[in-house]
Amino acid sequence: MTAAVTMGVTMRDSLGAYQSVVVFGGTSDIALETVRQLAAPGRLRHIALAGRRLSALEEAKAELADLGVDDISLWEFDAQNTESHTLLIAEISAHVGDIDCAIIAFALLGTEHLGPIDPEEARILAQTNYTGVVSIALPLTETMKSQGHGDVVFISSVAGERVRAANFMYGSSKQAMDGFAQGLGDSLQGSGVHVMVVRPGFVQTKMTTGMDPAPFSTTSDKVAAEIVTGLKKRKEMVWSPRVMRPLFSVIRHLPRPLFRKMPR
Ligand SMILES: NC(=O)c1ccc[n+]([C@@H]2O[C@H](COP(=O)([O-])OP(=O)(O)OC[C@H]3O[C@@H](n4cnc5c(N)ncnc54)[C@H](OP(=O)(O)O)[C@@H]3O)[C@@H](O)[C@H]2O)c1
Repeated sequence: MTAAVTMGVTMRDSLGAYQSVVVFGGTSDIALETVRQLAAPGRLRHIALAGRRLSALEEAKAELADLGVDDISLWEFDAQNTESHTLLIAEISAHVGDIDCAIIAFALLGTEHLGPIDPEEARILAQTNYTGVVSIALPLTETMKSQGHGDVVFISSVAGERVRAANFMYGSSKQAMDGFAQGLGDSLQGSGVHVMVVRPGFVQTKMTTGMDPAPFSTTSDKVAAEIVTGLKKRKEMVWSPRVMRPLFSVIRHLPRPLFRKMPR
């Protein structure tokens, strides 16, 4: 699945538009919509989609064909296969040149909201949603540091802001990756690398198919638009929809007995 290596250096063009965008979790509805919106100005030259299912990546590539981007490459990436991540970043970088923007979109929701927790499933979820993020983000940002620039979007979740009993494995994994991303972003100050954490509420995507929408549920195109605006403004944190920020600052501080009474 690894694309042929072509050397060449790209970076943001003179108008500040990205020339390369890489997605980890390359079939994510939110990430693909974000790529579509980032490509709209027509100056994007490389899209790299990294994921674990070739057939689904091929479908994603076909859906992006109308963007007219010269090069859409597909890369084998399993968040759990951590030994392969450093090499993967080197291969993608050799192919696209400078990585202008990367979106870390992969995660598992798990099935804990449906019944008792399966310890094996919980372990895989934790490894994917936290360890996998750490494992890919560190070589990625090292590469961006050597470029002297790059934006990294970490798709977190409001579920990490206050972890609920109904999905505490997912919520705690998002809390951990969110904290990692914020700390990483702080550590990269002055390097030219910019980290943006995105905290969506309930989004209607493959991940939530069949679930009852939570209050203030949103869509991947709206989240993508907020991601694109956030990148333009070099924000460090994006809540989507924006109402989630005041809402969760209240929920975060609710006394625990009251919090436990909230609808699951
Ligand atoms: N939808 C929501 O309500 C919501 C709310 C808040 C935050 N988020 C976050 O938004 C991000 C994108 O989710 P989405 O809503 O766009 O759902 P999605 O379309 O289901 O995307 C999830 C992605 O994670 C990938 N993935 C899962 N395990 C992986 C692994 N081991 N290695 C590589 N990739 C793996 C999936 O790949 P496959 O195609 O191979 O399964 C898929 O590309 C996730 O981080 C999610 O937690 C979603």
